[in-house]
Amino acid sequence: MRDGKKVLFSGMQATGNLTLGNYLGALKNWVSLSDEYECFYSVVDEHSITVRQDPSVLRQRARKLFALYIAAGLDPEKNCIYYQSHVSCHAELAWILNCFTYMGELQRMTQFKDKSSKHADNINAGLFTYPVLMAADILLYQTDVVPVGKDQLQHLELTRDIAQRFNAIYGDVFTIPEPYLGKAGAKIMSLQDPSKKMSKSDENENASIYLMDDPDTIMRKFKRAVTDSEASVRYREEQPGIRNLIDIYSACTGKTPEEIEKEFDGKGYGEFKPAVGEAVVSILKPLQDRCADLEKNKDYIDQAIKNNAEKAEYFAQKTLRKVQKKVGFPEKIR
Ligand code: TYM
Repeated sequence: MRDGKKVLFSGMQATGNLTLGNYLGALKNWVSLSDEYECFYSVVDEHSITVRQDPSVLRQRARKLFALYIAAGLDPEKNCIYYQSHVSCHAELAWILNCFTYMGELQRMTQFKDKSSKHADNINAGLFTYPVLMAADILLYQTDVVPVGKDQLQHLELTRDIAQRFNAIYGDVFTIPEPYLGKAGAKIMSLQDPSKKMSKSDENENASIYLMDDPDTIMRKFKRAVTDSEASVRYREEQPGIRNLIDIYSACTGKTPEEIEKEFDGKGYGEFKPAVGEAVVSILKPLQDRCADLEKNKDYIDQAIKNNAEKAEYFAQKTLRKVQKKVGFPEKIR
């Protein structure tokens, strides 16, 4: 709780091309929650180097993501938007929390298993301890709520376990965070294989809608989306492709699956798929335009980067000092 408001923290990686899943599962909810909470939104660049990156591309993408947060509707005067690497407390707390996390817990993380099979030539220690850095991100700000997509719930559960373990030894040091999942869009699936989540690292370009796709590409990808032979717009387990499209349409329009079933009653996929495409274009096109405008405003972005890193550092330091004292590090002589 800070200034009568609960604290919210979330982050996104600047690796690859962001997808509609990132937007509907996370960014969109961040915007809708931003008035109610004291918010910290990080561009988590330290997480990105667990997989090899081209340094100049990573820098460019991180800056673009920073602008995208603002373009999506997060005012950098009201929301603390910052680069993780500008606040060294993240890495420092992660080290301490590493000493309170068990190998067995990290071995169970599905993201670690997925990423190590995809990058078998580079299974580094950072990839393994990634969830501990994520726990540090969250716990540093005494976070109450963490809006994420479903794929991050396991990491959040681990964060809670680490915090509870630490608190049980040293007293009430960390706030125990709760996940926040949006009503629609918490798990957007691949357009080509609805049993897999939509992911930036999918090799099939038709499987994902990228946030920077132009309207024609978006329409084409939806027309090609895998559905099934039933040809009716029904929200059912047996129709995972259509279910996914209904989820996307629902997250974009605010309509419930029942309302959508009614709207398309008696109509086929030939009408439904373009309608989903248009709903997505109507959200992404303005976002792309705002992002392009913002990127031209270099001074504004630079100022936001600087001011917010200082603000984040201030709050992060408070928690880090407390933790350092609890574990027995000597106080600095100032
Ligand atoms: P990342 O960068 O992979 O994804 C950013 C956010 O997008 C959500 N997301 C999805 N939601 C619905 N459907 C999908 N197909 C989909 N794909 C991605 C993710 O759930 C996430 O909310 N480890 C995190 C970043 C992170 C973080 C944190 C998040 C680092 N520290 C602290 C919250 C709090 C990650 O790699 O997300």
